[in-house]
Amino acid sequence: MTYLTLRPTALAACLATAFLASAGLAEVKGPDADPVVAQGKDLYENVGGFGCLACHGNDASGEIGPNIQGIDIGKIHVALTNVTDMASSLPPLTEDEVKAIGAYLLFLNQH
Ligand code: HEC
Repeated sequence: MTYLTLRPTALAACLATAFLASAGLAEVKGPDADPVVAQGKDLYENVGGFGCLACHGNDASGEIGPNIQGIDIGKIHVALTNVTDMASSLPPLTEDEVKAIGAYLLFLNQH
């Protein structure tokens, strides 16, 4: 009898835990929740040994260079070629790396 009453309770506890866990994850969704955003963050902070961060600031809101939060990937490409400070200091980036940085800059714009 005890066995029969415990089972549904255990199931309910299990479902509640799963629900709370997923709700918790949604709330604390940081840059590490998406691997592409996480890669972009790493590049933003470390590329070339100093990162875009060195000129655009910790959160890309601007320092020596302008605010680039949420900027589109096309503009990153243009800047990588045309901004002398950038072209002369940064290593070449692959298309995937530029996309990852773009994803992180979009993330910063939304958080
Ligand atoms: C050595 C300093 C420096 C570094 C490092 C640097 N930037 Fe810049 N960036 C600048 C400056 C200065 C400008 C503004 C140039 C201008 O307005 O003529 C700029 C402009 C830009 C723009 C153009 C903004 C617009 O409104 O069109 C983008 C996009 C950009 N940077 C992205 C990046 C990314 C991404 C990285 C890292 C991969 C990076 N920058 C690293 C200095 C830097």
